[in-house]
Amino acid sequence: MIHTTAIIAISVDGKISTAINNPARFSTKADLEHLETQISLCDAIIFGANTLRAYGTSLVIKNPELLQQRKENHQPSQPLNIVCSASGKINPQLPFFSQPLPRGLLTTSQGIINFEEKIRDFNTKNNLNSNNYFEQVFINENTINWQEFFIKLTNLNYKKIGILGGKELISSLIAENLINEIWLTICPLIIGRKFAPDFLNFDLLQEINLPINLKLLEVKQIDQEIFLHYLILT
Ligand SMILES: NC(=O)c1ccc[n+]([C@@H]2O[C@H](COP(=O)([O-])OP(=O)(O)OC[C@H]3O[C@@H](n4cnc5c(N)ncnc54)[C@H](OP(=O)(O)O)[C@@H]3O)[C@@H](O)[C@H]2O)c1
Repeated sequence: MIHTTAIIAISVDGKISTAINNPARFSTKADLEHLETQISLCDAIIFGANTLRAYGTSLVIKNPELLQQRKENHQPSQPLNIVCSASGKINPQLPFFSQPLPRGLLTTSQGIINFEEKIRDFNTKNNLNSNNYFEQVFINENTINWQEFFIKLTNLNYKKIGILGGKELISSLIAENLINEIWLTICPLIIGRKFAPDFLNFDLLQEINLPINLKLLEVKQIDQEIFLHYLILT
């Protein structure tokens, strides 16, 4: 059975970054350590294509204690890093593709055609013959079918899954009742910009029973940040 935890840092006004194309750089070292710890507990992590486009990279676990813990748990040193991109329009030059990580792509039949075209163009321009981008590719027909994808993950023995954002990804999974827990870091700032992305895309939640009730499991304070751990009640 798959268990999913969304891990996200937000401002006091509920924003997850200053603009959709920008990485969220407002949390502290303590939050990054918290994120690294949470990721180290996972068999796989999933993030949306805009998150990858904004950061260009993913987080590599480096803390020796966390790496040792994974070893003792018979887990590979890094979880599978799965990017969800229906369009497949991902730049093969992103530094993500040079990071020492196992990578997965969740896409559609058109998305894989688009991505392969991007690789071909890149290889032709740079006189390369590289196809070393994703170890695992999950292809859905026209749209992403989360239920089907989660069955595939279960069959491949990926059980503990971290959901790293952004709002499109988290909202579509909440809408399908596929998120079990949330770790929210409240950072001490108000972003206050109209077009800064919110934590959730409310349009994607229109079809479901609201409100969604949560149970507070844990609260931590480290300096100016508060870490809230919730269980989503079904
Ligand atoms: N504060 C934090 O902790 C945190 C964490 C992560 C991200 N962020 C911020 O969040 C922002 C990006 O968030 P976002 O909401 O725009 O994007 P996102 O969820 O990261 O990515 C959206 C894209 O992912 C794919 N996707 C996601 N869910 C899908 C679904 N259900 N079906 C099909 N495709 C799906 C699509 O890719 P295609 O367009 O390729 O089809 C979609 O356009 C950035 O500013 C980033 O810095 C903040």
